[in-house]
Amino acid sequence: MSGHSTYNPTTGFGKFMDSRLPIARLIHDSFVSFPVPRNLNNFYTFGGILMVMLVSQIVTGIVIAMHFTPESTMAFDSVHLLRRDVSYGNTLQSWHAVGASMFFVAVYIHIFRGLYYGSYKAPREVLWILGVVIYLLMMATAFMGYVLPWGQMSYWGAQVITNFFSAIPLVGDTVREYLLGGYAVGNATLNRFFSLHYLLPFMIAGIVILHVWTLHVTGQTNPTGVEVKSKQDVIPFTPYATVKDAFAMVVFMIVMCYFVFFMPDYLGHADNYIMANPLKTPAHIVPEWYFLPFYAVLRAVDFNIGIPFTEIVLIDSKLGGVLAMFGAIAVLFFVPWLDTSDVRSANYRPMYKIFFWLFVANAVFLGYLGSRPAEGIWIPLMKASTFAYFFHFLVIMPLLGWFEKPLPRPASITDAVLAKAGNGGSSHIEGATAEPQSKG
Ligand code: HEM
Repeated sequence: MSGHSTYNPTTGFGKFMDSRLPIARLIHDSFVSFPVPRNLNNFYTFGGILMVMLVSQIVTGIVIAMHFTPESTMAFDSVHLLRRDVSYGNTLQSWHAVGASMFFVAVYIHIFRGLYYGSYKAPREVLWILGVVIYLLMMATAFMGYVLPWGQMSYWGAQVITNFFSAIPLVGDTVREYLLGGYAVGNATLNRFFSLHYLLPFMIAGIVILHVWTLHVTGQTNPTGVEVKSKQDVIPFTPYATVKDAFAMVVFMIVMCYFVFFMPDYLGHADNYIMANPLKTPAHIVPEWYFLPFYAVLRAVDFNIGIPFTEIVLIDSKLGGVLAMFGAIAVLFFVPWLDTSDVRSANYRPMYKIFFWLFVANAVFLGYLGSRPAEGIWIPLMKASTFAYFFHFLVIMPLLGWFEKPLPRPASITDAVLAKAGNGGSSHIEGATAEPQSKG
């Protein structure tokens, strides 16, 4: 896909470097001449947006760290000192906090785009798996970052989440102690979380490099799901994709600025403006919005699993909840093999398209349920919604490959583009290709 390098150094220095450390060639081949399908839509701009968000979080985070005191009696005050007394400290802190939310907005759109267009199918399984690893690391980073300001939600959130680990049989309590640096959430925990919160984004950056590397080996998909077949199907990354990505980034930043400058606390929780108090539990402990679907899955399991007609419990409700929650993420690793259809893009999969949108609606509903207390009607709804989540991956995806009758696909990307422009390519669409698209 990446083809031959077209980089041609013209200056003496350029030639000198090119035969010793060809970084300019690497950048040119990856971000200038790299061929991308000519029909990418705006949903393909979110990878670039995510890169910008990662850099933005790292840069603002490093400056915030210069003012932050990772000590349990001073952490809360140090954040508020930054907000009130440091020049632009308020904007900086809001940018980082709102940035975390926007990072997740972008990553969810990026993941759903992948699910819709079948981006995970061969030969892009490794690309997808690296993405899921990034997502896991993002969650760990965000969770630990939220603990640092040492507000009520920080403290109690840490209490709840680290408690999950003690559900693991045999080693659970030891793992929790190592994580906390003691028997309870305290100063040692804050120190560890600060250290890890600083480290993980750099690990994410490393995996993003691998992610983009695999992308450059396999090439990007496109809304038709048909692989690139000729030179006509592609255009160079620069200027076409760079301009499109840059425009999307600006729009995304405008939305982000609206939150940063007009409602910086909207996405946070009021209780986190009260300093952590180990003696006072907040009325409702809720995680940040981007964790809510998984929080609903966790609380959906309120029953023990055991051997019927005996009192033997194999998995108690606590471990069951934790397994379901991690399972909800782990299932993503297997998506490339759970989806058995040969057709990549949902545009040509009438049944999958419906189930995809039902899945999106259910995921949003799970998020809403995550914000509700685990009582009354909410519990059966959490169970039903959790069931639907797993049903989609474990039953619908594998079965649809057998039952669904796909729509005719265009023979090539160029045909699809010409047909859309009303330029005679439609005749090719009628003579649809029967070849499996996922085999590359
Ligand atoms: C920091 C987070 C991430 C960054 C910076 C990132 C970056 C990118 C970039 C630049 C692209 C190419 C442009 C595009 O298609 O949008 C891409 C594609 C892709 N990403 Fe990510 N990504 C991230 C997270 C994820 C996650 C969490 C997943 C999945 C769980 C994922 C799965 C994919 C897939 C499958 C593609 C190929 C898309 C296609 O060609 O159809 N990425 N990513």
